[in-house]
Amino acid sequence: MARLRVKGIAFDMYGTVVDVGAVAVACKGIAPDPTAFAALWRTKQLEYTFLLSLMGKYRNFWTVSDQALEFTTRRLGVEVSPEQRPRLMNAWLEPRPYPEVPAVLARLKERYPLAILSNGSPKMLRAGLAHSGLKADFRWVISADAVKLYKPAPKVYAQAPKQMNLKKADILFVSSNSFDVLGAKSFGFRVCWINRAGLPLDALGPRPDLVVASFETLRTAME
Ligand code: 2OP
Repeated sequence: MARLRVKGIAFDMYGTVVDVGAVAVACKGIAPDPTAFAALWRTKQLEYTFLLSLMGKYRNFWTVSDQALEFTTRRLGVEVSPEQRPRLMNAWLEPRPYPEVPAVLARLKERYPLAILSNGSPKMLRAGLAHSGLKADFRWVISADAVKLYKPAPKVYAQAPKQMNLKKADILFVSSNSFDVLGAKSFGFRVCWINRAGLPLDALGPRPDLVVASFETLRTAME
Protein backbone atom coordinates (compact mmCIF):
# COMPACT_ATOMS: atom_id res chain seq x y z
CA MET A 1 0.00 0.00 0.00
CA ALA A 2 1.50 3.37 -1.03
CA ARG A 3 2.08 5.63 1.96
CA LEU A 4 -0.11 8.74 2.13
CA ARG A 5 2.13 11.79 2.49
CA VAL A 6 0.55 14.18 4.97
CA LYS A 7 1.77 16.28 7.89
CA GLY A 8 -1.10 15.87 10.34
CA ILE A 9 -4.20 13.76 10.93
CA ALA A 10 -7.67 14.90 12.04
CA PHE A 11 -10.28 12.38 13.17
CA ASP A 12 -14.03 12.40 13.36
CA MET A 13 -15.16 11.29 16.83
CA TYR A 14 -18.48 9.39 16.99
CA GLY A 15 -18.55 6.15 15.04
CA THR A 16 -14.90 6.64 14.02
CA VAL A 17 -12.71 6.85 17.13
CA VAL A 18 -15.42 5.80 19.57
CA ASP A 19 -18.16 3.24 19.04
CA VAL A 20 -21.69 4.66 19.00
CA GLY A 21 -22.75 1.04 19.65
CA ALA A 22 -22.32 2.00 23.34
CA VAL A 23 -25.52 3.97 22.91
CA ALA A 24 -27.38 0.78 21.91
CA VAL A 25 -26.03 -0.89 25.05
CA ALA A 26 -27.52 1.94 27.15
CA CYS A 27 -30.86 1.42 25.39
CA LYS A 28 -31.02 -2.23 26.57
CA GLY A 29 -33.82 -2.74 29.06
CA ILE A 30 -35.44 0.53 27.95
CA ALA A 31 -36.31 -0.14 24.30
CA PRO A 32 -37.61 -3.56 23.15
CA ASP A 33 -35.24 -3.41 20.16
CA PRO A 34 -32.22 -1.43 21.44
CA THR A 35 -30.34 -1.66 18.12
CA ALA A 36 -33.24 -0.22 16.09
CA PHE A 37 -33.85 2.44 18.76
CA ALA A 38 -30.19 3.54 18.77
CA ALA A 39 -30.05 3.51 14.95
CA LEU A 40 -33.10 5.79 14.60
CA TRP A 41 -31.76 8.06 17.35
CA ARG A 42 -28.42 8.40 15.49
CA THR A 43 -30.14 8.97 12.12
CA LYS A 44 -32.34 11.72 13.56
CA GLN A 45 -29.42 13.28 15.42
CA LEU A 46 -27.50 13.67 12.15
CA GLU A 47 -30.61 14.73 10.20
CA TYR A 48 -31.22 17.53 12.72
CA THR A 49 -27.64 18.78 12.27
CA PHE A 50 -28.14 18.91 8.49
CA LEU A 51 -31.51 20.65 8.86
CA LEU A 52 -30.23 23.24 11.31
CA SER A 53 -27.23 24.12 9.14
CA LEU A 54 -29.43 24.45 6.04
CA MET A 55 -31.90 26.61 7.94
CA GLY A 56 -29.07 28.87 9.13
CA LYS A 57 -29.83 27.95 12.75
CA TYR A 58 -27.72 26.32 15.44
CA ARG A 59 -28.28 24.29 18.59
CA ASN A 60 -25.39 22.44 20.16
CA PHE A 61 -24.92 18.71 19.63
CA TRP A 62 -26.10 17.86 23.15
CA THR A 63 -29.42 19.64 22.56
CA VAL A 64 -29.74 18.12 19.09
CA SER A 65 -29.12 14.65 20.58
CA ASP A 66 -31.77 15.27 23.24
CA GLN A 67 -34.32 16.42 20.64
CA ALA A 68 -33.51 13.42 18.43
CA LEU A 69 -34.11 11.18 21.47
CA GLU A 70 -37.46 12.87 22.03
CA PHE A 71 -38.50 12.08 18.43
CA THR A 72 -37.22 8.49 18.66
CA THR A 73 -39.21 7.70 21.81
CA ARG A 74 -42.39 9.07 20.22
CA ARG A 75 -41.83 7.40 16.85
CA LEU A 76 -41.17 3.99 18.39
CA GLY A 77 -43.69 4.39 21.21
CA VAL A 78 -41.07 3.78 23.91
CA GLU A 79 -41.77 5.18 27.39
CA VAL A 80 -38.59 6.66 28.90
CA SER A 81 -38.86 7.58 32.58
CA PRO A 82 -37.19 10.71 34.04
CA GLU A 83 -34.59 8.38 35.63
CA GLN A 84 -33.85 6.52 32.37
CA ARG A 85 -33.46 9.62 30.19
CA PRO A 86 -30.16 10.83 31.69
CA ARG A 87 -28.83 7.27 31.44
CA LEU A 88 -29.48 7.32 27.70
CA MET A 89 -28.03 10.78 27.18
CA ASN A 90 -24.97 10.00 29.29
CA ALA A 91 -24.06 7.21 26.87
CA TRP A 92 -22.78 10.04 24.61
CA LEU A 93 -20.46 11.16 27.42
CA GLU A 94 -19.14 7.67 28.15
CA PRO A 95 -18.26 6.12 24.78
CA ARG A 96 -15.73 3.33 24.30
CA PRO A 97 -13.01 3.47 21.67
CA TYR A 98 -13.01 0.69 19.05
CA PRO A 99 -10.65 -2.01 20.40
CA GLU A 100 -7.68 -1.33 18.09
CA VAL A 101 -7.89 2.48 18.31
CA PRO A 102 -5.81 3.26 21.46
CA ALA A 103 -2.74 1.32 20.26
CA VAL A 104 -2.92 2.76 16.73
CA LEU A 105 -3.29 6.36 17.99
CA ALA A 106 -0.30 5.83 20.29
CA ARG A 107 1.77 4.82 17.22
CA LEU A 108 0.45 7.53 14.90
CA LYS A 109 1.06 10.34 17.38
CA GLU A 110 4.78 9.54 17.34
CA ARG A 111 4.87 10.64 13.68
CA TYR A 112 1.99 13.07 13.23
CA PRO A 113 0.20 15.76 15.24
CA LEU A 114 -3.37 14.49 15.82
CA ALA A 115 -6.67 16.35 16.14
CA ILE A 116 -10.33 15.58 16.73
CA LEU A 117 -12.69 17.47 14.42
CA SER A 118 -16.23 16.71 15.47
CA ASN A 119 -19.80 17.92 15.57
CA GLY A 120 -19.77 17.10 19.30
CA SER A 121 -20.11 20.00 21.72
CA PRO A 122 -16.93 20.88 23.63
CA LYS A 123 -18.43 19.42 26.83
CA MET A 124 -19.32 16.12 25.11
CA LEU A 125 -15.89 15.85 23.51
CA ARG A 126 -14.05 16.61 26.77
CA ALA A 127 -16.09 14.02 28.65
CA GLY A 128 -15.91 11.41 25.87
CA LEU A 129 -12.15 11.70 25.42
CA ALA A 130 -11.53 11.58 29.17
CA HIS A 131 -13.79 8.53 29.54
CA SER A 132 -12.22 6.69 26.63
CA GLY A 133 -8.70 7.41 27.90
CA LEU A 134 -7.67 9.09 24.63
CA LYS A 135 -7.43 12.73 25.72
CA ALA A 136 -3.63 12.86 25.71
CA ASP A 137 -3.42 11.59 22.11
CA PHE A 138 -4.90 14.72 20.56
CA ARG A 139 -3.13 18.05 20.37
CA TRP A 140 -6.32 19.78 19.23
CA VAL A 141 -9.99 19.09 19.95
CA ILE A 142 -11.94 21.07 17.37
CA SER A 143 -15.71 21.35 17.67
CA ALA A 144 -18.31 22.51 15.15
CA ASP A 145 -19.63 24.58 18.05
CA ALA A 146 -16.99 27.27 17.44
CA VAL A 147 -18.53 28.15 14.05
CA LYS A 148 -22.15 27.30 14.96
CA LEU A 149 -22.54 25.08 11.88
CA TYR A 150 -22.28 21.33 11.36
CA LYS A 151 -20.28 19.13 9.04
CA PRO A 152 -20.28 18.85 6.04
CA ALA A 153 -20.25 22.69 5.95
CA PRO A 154 -16.76 23.74 4.74
CA LYS A 155 -16.45 26.30 7.57
CA VAL A 156 -16.36 23.47 10.10
CA TYR A 157 -13.48 21.69 8.31
CA ALA A 158 -11.67 25.02 7.74
CA GLN A 159 -10.95 25.23 11.45
CA ALA A 160 -8.45 22.35 11.22
CA PRO A 161 -5.89 23.88 8.80
CA LYS A 162 -6.01 27.12 10.84
CA GLN A 163 -5.53 25.49 14.23
CA MET A 164 -3.07 22.84 13.06
CA ASN A 165 -1.18 25.45 11.01
CA LEU A 166 -1.09 23.13 8.00
CA LYS A 167 -2.36 23.33 4.43
CA LYS A 168 -5.59 21.40 3.94
CA ALA A 169 -3.95 19.07 1.42
CA ASP A 170 -1.37 18.19 4.10
CA ILE A 171 -4.04 16.94 6.49
CA LEU A 172 -5.51 13.46 6.41
CA PHE A 173 -9.09 13.43 7.66
CA VAL A 174 -10.33 10.10 8.97
CA SER A 175 -14.03 9.27 9.32
CA SER A 176 -16.40 6.31 9.31
CA ASN A 177 -19.36 8.50 8.42
CA SER A 178 -19.76 8.58 4.66
CA PHE A 179 -21.38 12.06 4.61
CA ASP A 180 -18.31 13.30 6.47
CA VAL A 181 -15.99 11.58 4.00
CA LEU A 182 -17.70 13.39 1.11
CA GLY A 183 -17.67 16.73 2.93
CA ALA A 184 -14.03 16.48 3.96
CA LYS A 185 -12.83 15.44 0.49
CA SER A 186 -14.90 18.16 -1.13
CA PHE A 187 -13.29 20.65 1.28
CA GLY A 188 -9.83 19.60 0.13
CA PHE A 189 -8.41 17.25 2.79
CA ARG A 190 -6.82 13.91 1.98
CA VAL A 191 -9.43 11.50 3.30
CA CYS A 192 -9.53 8.01 4.74
CA TRP A 193 -12.88 6.23 5.07
CA ILE A 194 -12.98 3.66 7.88
CA ASN A 195 -15.55 1.32 6.38
CA ARG A 196 -16.03 -1.22 9.18
CA ALA A 197 -19.39 -2.42 7.85
CA GLY A 198 -18.27 -3.02 4.25
CA LEU A 199 -20.76 -0.49 2.88
CA PRO A 200 -20.76 0.59 -0.77
CA LEU A 201 -19.07 3.88 -1.55
CA ASP A 202 -21.50 6.80 -1.81
CA ALA A 203 -22.35 7.41 -5.46
CA LEU A 204 -22.29 11.20 -5.05
CA GLY A 205 -18.48 11.48 -4.88
CA PRO A 206 -15.78 12.71 -4.52
CA ARG A 207 -14.00 9.50 -3.62
CA PRO A 208 -11.78 9.15 -0.53
CA ASP A 209 -8.04 8.63 -1.00
CA LEU A 210 -8.05 5.52 1.13
CA VAL A 211 -10.68 3.01 2.25
CA VAL A 212 -9.83 0.64 5.11
CA ALA A 213 -11.78 -1.70 7.37
CA SER A 214 -10.07 -0.68 10.62
CA PHE A 215 -7.51 1.64 12.20
CA GLU A 216 -4.96 -1.18 11.97
CA THR A 217 -4.88 -0.91 8.16
CA LEU A 218 -4.76 2.88 8.43
CA ARG A 219 -1.63 2.54 10.59
CA THR A 220 0.00 0.34 7.94
CA ALA A 221 -0.76 2.93 5.27
CA MET A 222 0.73 5.74 7.34
CA GLU A 223 4.03 4.08 8.33
C1 2OP B 1 -18.85 13.57 14.66
O1 2OP B 1 -18.73 14.70 14.22
C2 2OP B 1 -20.39 13.17 12.76
O2 2OP B 1 -20.75 12.16 14.81
C3 2OP B 1 -19.82 12.63 13.97
O3 2OP B 1 -18.17 13.17 15.61
